Amino acid sequence: MSVIIQPSLFAADMGYLAEELKAIEASGITELHVDVMDGSFVPNIAFGPDQVSMLRPLTKLKFDVHMMVVNPDRYIPRYAEAGAEVITVHAEACVHLHRTLQLIKSLGKQAGVALNPGTPLDVLDYVYDLLDQVLIMTVNPGCGGQKTILGLTEKIKRLSEIKQANQYGFAIQIDGGINKDNINKLIEAGAENIVIGAAAFQRGKTKSTLEEFVALVK
Ligand code: DX5
Ligand code: ZN
Repeated sequence: MSVIIQPSLFAADMGYLAEELKAIEASGITELHVDVMDGSFVPNIAFGPDQVSMLRPLTKLKFDVHMMVVNPDRYIPRYAEAGAEVITVHAEACVHLHRTLQLIKSLGKQAGVALNPGTPLDVLDYVYDLLDQVLIMTVNPGCGGQKTILGLTEKIKRLSEIKQANQYGFAIQIDGGINKDNINKLIEAGAENIVIGAAAFQRGKTKSTLEEFVALVK
């Protein structure tokens, strides 16, 4: 399975979103990470469903919506309608995780679960059959530009072992502080889909930076 780079739009210059989306596509990348923050689960606010609807016609990139939202069931149908292809919820934010994943699947979307650094893998034990993706947060969520917690490499390795032993089909995604220096160590541990924020976006250089990332993970 080849490694996928997923730029996180939260880190882009909001005044130049259309330009940055073109730069991402020109680099050959096919997926976009869209962070949704409610100011409650995390201390920041980002991308409402109406903004996602406005972005949708600007690009063919696959939208992976990372919902850092308490009780995400309230908003999942709106993001599905807005054009999300993948919807990832936090295990810590769901009272009924299994039901929430059923809701995402019932809307015809791929379903992911994200785990904060302090959350153990065993919360996934009884939902693996519903999962298309597991997101191992490599920082505490809520803002960009933080430093990866490298101790989490063990968690990625353990998840990769569980995946292989059971032949599960979900992708292992990581998010937070990924850069050119640490990316390969995390891929060796088992990461397959890599979200990149601050290290990806610099106006005028986004395309070439992303091309460098793509070359690094080949
Ligand atoms: C963090 C968000 C990330 C963020 C990543 O809470 O979920 O997607 O944009 O940005 P960097 O790569 O700068 O940590
Ligand atoms: Zn994210």
